[in-house]
Amino acid sequence: MRTQVVIIGSGPSGLLLGQLLTNDGIDNIILERSSQEHVLARIRAGVLEEGTTAMLDEAGAGERMRREGLPHDGFDMAFDGRRHRVDLFGLTGGKRVMIYGQTEVTHDLMDKRAATGGATVYEAADVAPHGFDSERPYVTYKKDGATFRIDCDFIAGCDGYHGISRKSVPETAIKLYERAYPFGWLGIIAEVPPVGEELIYANHPRGFALCSMRSHTRSRYYVQCSLDDKVDDWSDDRFWDEIRARLPAATAEQMTTGPSIEKSIAPLRSFVAEPLRFGRLFLVGDAGHIVPPTGAKGLNLAASDVRYLFDGLREFYADRSSAGMDAYSQKALARVWKAERFSWWMTSTLHKFPETGAFGQKIQEAELDYLFHSRAASTALAENYVGLPY
Ligand code: APR
Ligand code: PHB
Repeated sequence: MRTQVVIIGSGPSGLLLGQLLTNDGIDNIILERSSQEHVLARIRAGVLEEGTTAMLDEAGAGERMRREGLPHDGFDMAFDGRRHRVDLFGLTGGKRVMIYGQTEVTHDLMDKRAATGGATVYEAADVAPHGFDSERPYVTYKKDGATFRIDCDFIAGCDGYHGISRKSVPETAIKLYERAYPFGWLGIIAEVPPVGEELIYANHPRGFALCSMRSHTRSRYYVQCSLDDKVDDWSDDRFWDEIRARLPAATAEQMTTGPSIEKSIAPLRSFVAEPLRFGRLFLVGDAGHIVPPTGAKGLNLAASDVRYLFDGLREFYADRSSAGMDAYSQKALARVWKAERFSWWMTSTLHKFPETGAFGQKIQEAELDYLFHSRAASTALAENYVGLPY
């Protein structure tokens, strides 16, 4: 078998890249380890930057998002018993974010791929990239007991943090930067109206909390928890008591509670691999970098990586120029590191660390208070939150 681009992984990175390539007439095959149902069962963040929504439109997969997504012009930060609004729209000269779950993005991209005849092999086992330091790379995989080989021009490693692409690179050729945080996020989804019209990020001496949503009738809430905690330690009642304790009293009183329909714990990590290109293999999205969810940047960084890589591939096939692909790693990393810094800063400013103590709490509150009394500081926050240009 032969194709132009083999894409490993059918998360948002792989699906978005695949769709842009297919629309442009560039042949590609996606190899995915899991089943389609399994990929669609994953629940992740839900804040899309305008660059991301524009790419979904460009891929022809933005229609339902435009219909059902919730455009937000701002969000709130709560600390020291009060709520303050960050006016994203006003501070950035008219930019906003779109609230639309990553699960829905994945769904829409899968539907579009099916409608346009894109090839995806689900439950592909032992996927392995080969020969990417030569002109003739290929990928092997197993399916239903048989081994297959696909020859290609390029391999896009869109297989997430635990994928095989990054692991296939010799250790001496790659440098890894990493920080693990000493806490996790316990997240729930409940069929209750969200407590506010917009998101609320809360700093509290008991720990961080986040009030998000999926629609006007479905809420997505998080509390910072211990890494030792198990989901079973957290009854719904305990969750609701804890999140209310971390919010200003007036907000806690307005909160509608109800049974959770999903509950899970995720660790927080910052991670970057350098470079993101190894000959004819490219790392894209979570395969190359991870951010803690506090700034909601994970999916958006995947989209900007896809932008740079797709533009490079298009240029290669249209003009036989490798300039765009040669610039991929450097361009993508420049944006990745700024989002890493922002996500680290949001995480550091809003969470309780083992060393925070009474002094650290006061410093966090002073920083947040400064933010709301300085237009320069709020503008810096807003322009990072809506997404830096690319
Ligand atoms: N072979 C084939 N597929 C694989 C392999 C493998 N060895 N390993 C992992 N995969 C698949 C996973 O099953 C998953 O479907 O690759 C896909 C990677 O998807 P994501 O982890 O969603 O990564 P990405 O597409 O880069 O999306 C980034 O999603 O992970 C979140 O927070 C992240 O929002 C960000 C966005
Ligand atoms: C979510 O809705 O899941 C969400 C929103 C904002 C974040 C993280 C997660 O920063």
